[in-house]
Amino acid sequence: MNHRERFLQIRDFLKPYQEIWQNEIMLMYPNPLDAFSQNWIEDLHRFQDKKDIIRLEKKDVFGLIQDSSLIEFYQKIKTLSALPAARTYPPMPEDSQTWLFITPKKQHEIRHLAPHINHLYQKRNIDQVVDIGGGIGLLAQTLNGQYQLRVASLDMDPVMQNTGKVRYGKKPKHPENQVQYLNVKVEDSGEFPKLMSANVMPIGLHTCGKLALDIITVSSSKKVPVLVNFGCCYHKLDEVPGHQNISLFANAHEPLWLSQFALTLACRAHNRMNEEEYDFKVKVKHFRYAIHILLYEHYGFTELITLGNSSPKLYDLTFADYVLDQLKRINLEPKHSFVELNAFFEKIKTLVGKMQTAGLIRDAFGRVLETYLLLDRAIYLEEQGYQVEVEEFFHEELSPRNIGITAILV
Ligand SMILES: C[S@@+](CC[C@H](N)C(=O)[O-])C[C@H]1O[C@@H](n2cnc3c(N)ncnc32)[C@H](O)[C@@H]1O
Repeated sequence: MNHRERFLQIRDFLKPYQEIWQNEIMLMYPNPLDAFSQNWIEDLHRFQDKKDIIRLEKKDVFGLIQDSSLIEFYQKIKTLSALPAARTYPPMPEDSQTWLFITPKKQHEIRHLAPHINHLYQKRNIDQVVDIGGGIGLLAQTLNGQYQLRVASLDMDPVMQNTGKVRYGKKPKHPENQVQYLNVKVEDSGEFPKLMSANVMPIGLHTCGKLALDIITVSSSKKVPVLVNFGCCYHKLDEVPGHQNISLFANAHEPLWLSQFALTLACRAHNRMNEEEYDFKVKVKHFRYAIHILLYEHYGFTELITLGNSSPKLYDLTFADYVLDQLKRINLEPKHSFVELNAFFEKIKTLVGKMQTAGLIRDAFGRVLETYLLLDRAIYLEEQGYQVEVEEFFHEELSPRNIGITAILV
């Protein structure tokens, strides 16, 4: 895949829709729907069956929607965010101890990733894998236990590492070749660059926010022979150089700068909701939108107000119950009676429903935004002399942050 070409295609596709994906729908109030095509909203809003709406949330729209320009829009999103599936290898050897203490999600990830790492380790004569942001060290323990690779698990969190060490103590292991735990904060110390060398392979599964970028920039400057990285938690990034558009190529081509809202959207690229969760989610969203409108109209708050999490039970009650609870949390005196608050909700219900529908369109940008961020990282690595693959490793339903970057020094 030509990463630069795709990067530019995505940039050109996203640009005209900036008003939608750079903003939060609530903050567009009093004109929350103006940036959206009214035909698209109408086409999506006519679906009332929960099953259909869940399909729309999952971008499984073909055969449901009718507006030809909306079909074209979803088709474009699908094409631009499509990535090759990672190569498959002979499966990792497993025994009765392999999955001890490991959740099904993590098992799935390790099953797909470990053979890839083993393959690169053997091919490039690696001395040591360093799993950065390794947490409790499950991937490191598995690579070491099943393939006998030399592995270190590096993390800044000593508590997680201790949990990992205790579990590791209960597993059978080789007397000499054992997982090493390194308590290092990547950006803080001189230690991390020293660990990166010509025989070391840094890997990182779900390296949140800026961590992925620190790993990519430092380890490529040290010319590590190969690295494998999965990003996550893009909302922890900022709208500044060094956090996005790190490649020279991006900077030379009028890049897009993703706002906090857009970065959060990039993390919401897949919706795993089932029907039960759907009802709850809709209620949360409707109440949240409606209270924003109430605060805007009657309290003069035009900015987004941070609210606390109401108890899930409150969403079984009425809007008035929810509002009174929230006002107490932010120390505001109610200006309306219980009955008036519920009447207010009734009055704006249709608008709130349409805002939720508009949200379907906005959510559709998530995966493309994520792809934009990751392609920039891939292009940066190409600029450092690496041959780079950006591939899907896991089933999106099980592990949504499933895009891995593999960079091999050429
Ligand atoms: C999302 S977790 C992923 C854990 C593990 N790799 C996994 O896939 O289960 C990210 C890990 O990165 C660690 N981390 C975050 N920032 C770090 C930094 N700057 N230096 C070292 N570790 C960091 C966190 O402590 C956390 O354990």
